[in-house]
Amino acid sequence: MTWPACGAEAPAEGHAEGHASAAQAGSTATSDAVALAPGDLEIRHGGDGSFSLWSTSFGEGFHSGRGALREAQETFVQPSQLERFCQGQRLKVVEVCVGTGTNLAALLEASAAAGLELEWWGLELDPAPLQLALAKPEFRSQWQPQTLNTLESLSERGCWQQGCWQQGAGSGRMLWGDARQMLPHLLEQRRGQVDLIWDDAFSPQRCPQLWTVEFLGSLAELLADGGRWISYCSAAAVREGLRLANLNVVALATADGARLGKPDSALAAEAEGVEGAEEGMERAEDCLKPDQSANQRRAWSGGTLASRAALEPSTVWRQLTAMEFEHLASSAGEPYRDPSRIADAAAIRADRREAQAASLARGERTSSSAWRKRWGMETRRMK
Ligand SMILES: C[S@@+](CC[C@H](N)C(=O)[O-])C[C@H]1O[C@@H](n2cnc3c(N)ncnc32)[C@H](O)[C@@H]1O
Repeated sequence: MTWPACGAEAPAEGHAEGHASAAQAGSTATSDAVALAPGDLEIRHGGDGSFSLWSTSFGEGFHSGRGALREAQETFVQPSQLERFCQGQRLKVVEVCVGTGTNLAALLEASAAAGLELEWWGLELDPAPLQLALAKPEFRSQWQPQTLNTLESLSERGCWQQGCWQQGAGSGRMLWGDARQMLPHLLEQRRGQVDLIWDDAFSPQRCPQLWTVEFLGSLAELLADGGRWISYCSAAAVREGLRLANLNVVALATADGARLGKPDSALAAEAEGVEGAEEGMERAEDCLKPDQSANQRRAWSGGTLASRAALEPSTVWRQLTAMEFEHLASSAGEPYRDPSRIADAAAIRADRREAQAASLARGERTSSSAWRKRWGMETRRMK
């Protein structure tokens, strides 16, 4: 599959291609990856006052409670260390789940400031979050005019292209549709070439389809040797999936704040009787301010960075601790799997519960409650 150039002469083509793909994915009978229904999105504002959304169908916010802008900078831009690249260099970036375009806008402005030329691909099911954001003055006021032009081009034509004489030089293309189905097309073209993958899917509990061994493995194949996969997610199942893809995994420095209005998924998971419910607690850990000493042990990570290259400790990340390695070896580290690449969320969760029970019975994994006890974390129960 090759993509047409995104010149001024080809707007209709880019547009048609993008939305046809989205429609196709939405109508895939075997996949539950349906585009968000109108009315599904509610506007929220984070701790920094920036624009964000809440998805009622996923039951989850788009960004951390710190705020979308802070999260974009702290979780994605800073750990990318754009200063590693030389001025004028081409930076190849893949964004998993583009949503409102906040992370992309932050990337566009940071890479323009660093004098880099972007080559960008976005994987996203639904055009509505970007359209909604672009329609709102409080979102628009966050960005430079050139950034808004780029987002508008993406929203309307599914691509953008700017000459090297313009601020924010480079090109980008949206691959509208279920990311699982679009990723193979990207792999055909850019295997082993991508410098950065920013993974901002909904949490593993809510959207396990995009955190499976198979999906993470394909993303890993995109990475160049020094390329980095970066996410807010620190779930043991995801870190284990990245390790199975032969990536080195480190923890991002802790940031405070929760996903906007995000429920305590640890409680929800325990109520469902899910072994390894502490992976939900990893989401909840974000709810805890780092200075809450009683909970300090829980607030262990602000996300995950993975790379084929060895990663020395730095100010933006650290090596996994003994506690985290033990966590990977517990039931919580049982990865999500989706060999068919079309399974729905419920089926993926059910398969994982079976695998957890089997590995516990064989003694291959320790129970997550034993792990919690060992590290002094009380197990909470729903009444
Ligand atoms: C947490 S939001 C992304 C936030 C985004 N990075 C931003 O800055 O606004 C998750 C996004 O995943 C998208 N999504 C859900 N399931 C998907 C799938 N199977 N394939 C592609 N995108 C999906 C949703 O439409 C939503 O926009």
